[in-house]
Amino acid sequence: MATKRLASLPGTTDRRIDALLTLLAENATIVVNGAKIAKEIGVTRQQVWRWVEKLRALGVRVKGHPRTGYHIERVPDILAPQMLSHRLYGTPFARRIHHFFKVDSTNSVAMQLGAAGEPHGTIVLAEEQTAGRGRAGRTWASEKSAGIYCSVLLRPAISPMHAPLLTLVAGLAARDATAEELDTQPDIRWPNDLVVNHGGRNGVRKFCGILTEMHAEPDRVHYAVVGIGINVNQTKMPESLKEIATSLRIETGKPHSRLELLIRLLRHLNRYYNQFLTEGSVPILRRFAEVSSYFKGKHVRITTAKETFTGKTTGLDANGLLRVARDDGRGTESVISGDVAEAY
Ligand code: BTN
Repeated sequence: MATKRLASLPGTTDRRIDALLTLLAENATIVVNGAKIAKEIGVTRQQVWRWVEKLRALGVRVKGHPRTGYHIERVPDILAPQMLSHRLYGTPFARRIHHFFKVDSTNSVAMQLGAAGEPHGTIVLAEEQTAGRGRAGRTWASEKSAGIYCSVLLRPAISPMHAPLLTLVAGLAARDATAEELDTQPDIRWPNDLVVNHGGRNGVRKFCGILTEMHAEPDRVHYAVVGIGINVNQTKMPESLKEIATSLRIETGKPHSRLELLIRLLRHLNRYYNQFLTEGSVPILRRFAEVSSYFKGKHVRITTAKETFTGKTTGLDANGLLRVARDDGRGTESVISGDVAEAY
């Protein structure tokens, strides 16, 4: 399709702040001379000083002044596009990374970018969301710089019928990326909530959710946006969520690098997405069966827009829908969307 790419997007992080941050972070142990910085990022020395002040206002601890040079006291865990782009080289996600310090919802921005013709692989990231969106019209708590709030624009040549498989693909990628940070194995609660299970009735806590949205006609997806939210460094969850949600930091008692986790997430996403396009749904469903206790034999309570019922899971169908044998004797059905909880 013809693309009318956006030159710049209102509210995105200034390219020069990004360049300055990357330069200082990549030379974290040395003092970088003001003149050298000015030359590298294409501004005057006075402007460098002003941008350093901006970084300080954003909480980055930069030491020094224009005459001696600057160095960063601690490499900040900001999802700076330039740094990410270097590390994602060779994947479709390295080319178009839009970063916001604050935005309403990365999914909303990515959907607009999809409509504007931005290419496959475009990424939208935010340090904070003011109107983060969850499934079924819920909100997604998006505390500043504590979590990963990432939306990926995809242009798969598939029918909308197969779109639920994209959600599984993203869930598997998030599962593999976060498993390396946790001491226990994360579980995938269909379709793609990542949870840890401490046992018992109230022991399940969610730390990652995925919202897939798309623009399609009956037989063809124009574009899909996969929005991934991961609770990483929250030290406590909002009161209303604390019985059902957690973060990697709460689980492990230590902070985690959002940058490293995001890089791993996008590399796994690239791998699973390519596998899905080349080999179809079979390896995706097989992997889901390996890592999700909800795949088969789990007694669950399903809440859809229409009804709530209980039953036992019997696997996924070829399109990734959950098969549930109902307790009320009304047969086995494929659940298209809904909330799934373990039933006791
Ligand atoms: C869920 O309800 O489990 C889905 C949560 C999805 C949250 C992510 S955060 C990044 C992206 N932007 C949004 O507004 N939502 C998704």
